[in-house]
Parts: sequence; C-alpha cells; structure tokens
Amino acid sequence: MLLRLKIFRFDPEKDQGPYYQTFEVEADPMDRLLDCLNRIRWEQDPTLSFRMSCGHGVCGSDGMRINSICGLACQKLVRSYKEEVLIEPLPVFRVIKDLVVDLDSFFEKYFSIRPYFITKTIPPDTERKQFPEQHQQFEEAIRCILCACCTASCPVNQNKNTEDYVGPAALVRAFRYLFDSRDEGEEERIKLLDEKAMVWGCQTLWKCTEVCPKEIPITRQIGQIKRRIYERKNRDKTT
Ligand code: SF4
Ligand code: SF4
Ligand code: FES
Repeated sequence: MLLRLKIFRFDPEKDQGPYYQTFEVEADPMDRLLDCLNRIRWEQDPTLSFRMSCGHGVCGSDGMRINSICGLACQKLVRSYKEEVLIEPLPVFRVIKDLVVDLDSFFEKYFSIRPYFITKTIPPDTERKQFPEQHQQFEEAIRCILCACCTASCPVNQNKNTEDYVGPAALVRAFRYLFDSRDEGEEERIKLLDEKAMVWGCQTLWKCTEVCPKEIPITRQIGQIKRRIYERKNRDKTT
C-alpha cells in the first residue's frame, strides 16, 4: 500500500520555523512506521532526523507523536493507519532537530528520585534475597524503558504552570524502589516524594497509562505511592 507520512521538520540552524513535509512510501501492511521512516532517510532525504536503535521496543529511543498520540514508531504497524499519518516530535521537550528532542530535563527529573537502591545494613555474602511474591509487587515497573511517552502525554507536564512536576516516568521508577523489599530507604523516599512537584502533582488523568508501550499501570502505581505516604504518616503519628 502507498502510505503518506506528513512529518514535522525543523532544523534550527537553517529554518526560520517548523514546517511539515509529506513523503510517500510504498509499504507492506506489516511494516512498522519505523521501517517507513528508515526508508525515507535511506532513499529520499538523508537529512531527516529521528532516534532509533533496537527496532523492537526495547531501547525506548523512537518515542514520537503519531496521529497526536505518543508511542514508539517501531511498535506501530502500517496496517493500523489509513493513507496518511501525522508524525511529530514528543511534546513537552525542546526540539533539537525534526523528531529529535532534548531529553536532558527528563533525565534530570528521573535522577532526582534517587533511582538506585538505598541500603543501610551490611550486605550478605551472596545476594540480597526476596520471595517471588515480593518481587511481583514491582515487577511491572521494571518493564519501563524510559521512552518518555508518558511524561510527554501528561497534561500536568504539558502545562507551563506545572512543568516542574517530576512526571510519571520518574514516579514509576520511584515506585519500583519504594515497593522493593530489599530497599531500606523508605523514610528518605517518602520525604522526597511527599511534595507538590513530586507525587502530589499527579491529577489522576490517566493519559500516561493510556500511552505506555509497556502497559505499565502507571496511574495505579502513583496512587499506591500516595497511599504509602498516607499510611506512613498515620503510622508515625500514632507511634
Ligand atoms: S495520571 Fe498523573 S502522571 Fe499520569 S497523565 Fe495523569 S496527571 Fe499525569
Ligand atoms: S512508564 Fe511506560 S511510557 Fe513511561 S517511560 Fe516507562 S515505558 Fe515509557
Ligand atoms: S527503536 Fe528501540 S524501542 Fe523503538
């Protein structure tokens, strides 16, 4: 089938402003949109810029806005679209060139939640052990590939007045450590997360959950963090 891709273009070094360019690609219905973008770059315009690496939903680098919904180009089949597809960079982030955005702020927020184990006890001779049911508590959150689709889709992050909000991707990682039985930093984590720019910035609008390519129940996990904070505060009050 013949597919038209209407693509956002902007090279700040030579363009006055952004514009859209339409390319036509002969594609198999089972091709992915990423295949079409690669073909455009190889056969029609080598200056078209976008990120990609694995091609299989693992690296998280080809997040973009496809017909106004954020997702991975390597996971979208041509057969799901009719004749023309609109392809734009992820919103929220500054455009570096075409579909490539500056993710520095995304990773700064990610690192702000302390995405690593906090331990206080002396490590055992072998590994820190846990039961399978303890692992299951946060198993879904481990699937996150940091594609930024959730944060780019979150209306709170999109709002200029609340853009300081740490965003759903960082909170998924915070959940991953807060609910891991081997982590010993609950007190510090709760103090860090109990802020308007952290977990209380979430307005439970579910947009993040709708777009996550790894089907992580993001909004539910944010809700579980809120509940953990509430329970811990109540516990502290009664002791
Ligand atoms: S549920 Fe929270 S984090 Fe997710 S999109 Fe809505 S406001 Fe943003
Ligand atoms: S939670 Fe989902 S949408 Fe958000 S960064 Fe991780 S994989 Fe991407
Ligand atoms: S190219 Fe790696 S996730 Fe799509």
